[in-house]
Amino acid sequence: MPPKPKSGKSLPPGALEQEFGVPMPGAIVPPEQWTPSSLKRWPAAGPLDWQALFGRAAPVVVDLGCGNGRSVLLSAIRRPEYDHLGVDSLPVVIRYARKRARQRGLANVRFAVGDARQVVARHIAPGSVTEVHVYHPQPYYDPAQIGRRLITPSFLLHMHRILIPDGLLVLQTDNPAYWRYMQQVVPAFFDFQKRLGSWPDAPQGRTRREIIARMKGLPVFRSIWRARTDTDPDEARRLTEALPPPVFNADRRLLDLDELELGGRLAGRGGPFRPPRRRRRSV
Ligand SMILES: C[S@@+](CC[C@H](N)C(=O)[O-])C[C@H]1O[C@@H](n2cnc3c(N)ncnc32)[C@H](O)[C@@H]1O
Repeated sequence: MPPKPKSGKSLPPGALEQEFGVPMPGAIVPPEQWTPSSLKRWPAAGPLDWQALFGRAAPVVVDLGCGNGRSVLLSAIRRPEYDHLGVDSLPVVIRYARKRARQRGLANVRFAVGDARQVVARHIAPGSVTEVHVYHPQPYYDPAQIGRRLITPSFLLHMHRILIPDGLLVLQTDNPAYWRYMQQVVPAFFDFQKRLGSWPDAPQGRTRREIIARMKGLPVFRSIWRARTDTDPDEARRLTEALPPPVFNADRRLLDLDELELGGRLAGRGGPFRPPRRRRRSV
């Protein structure tokens, strides 16, 4: 049975949403075509059952730190034969992502609130995912917070573990120091495939953060990697100890972008930053 429309302000069927002037993928469909889009609870123990979650056996794409879900919607619409799980630790962005997927009638999408580190370590079976995407993981500028940086040797090991042989990792950042760090550690588990100047399927940006970075004229480092098949499990575990942790200097001059990402508004293309209003915001 299709989920009941929730109360609150809703756009009419056929409406197209935009953020920063860039259309949000997909259009809103009539309520009777809406679909469930939430993974509300992680299994108490063990991994997710993909087939039970999506009601079919299909290749799975996982987007970690998915923010408002723009990249997940795009991929799900373009590739209906793939199932998609978007995960973010921030409930408010997942709320918006779920609403957008539900109102677009996308049966191949679920969004969940969660810590990506725990999700890959505990809730996804080895070799069960075809692609992992990580767009613009937060660089964290405050030295007290750098322990929260997502890309670490052990996180890479877990992403490698959940991927099928030859599975893909899509990694993207606009932070030059983070990109240098990625280039240093990712090759331990993944073979570099290519860097792209822009995404053919989303020239203005696959994600909200990418759109903002482009508007600010920042370089965006888009990369595709393939899981190495010659990785010995013992050697991989040893590597996670030997590789450097992400303790790079992220450059505080880029900090205002994080504030934009978290709800500010650009006055126009490349316009000045205005602090977020205190009211509920759309992300
Ligand atoms: C800079 S935003 C990028 C969001 C989106 N991928 C984009 O490119 O627009 C980073 C996102 O990662 C999320 N995040 C940070 N640490 C996380 C963690 N440990 N697990 C899941 N999400 C996390 C944040 O809540 C935020 O939404």
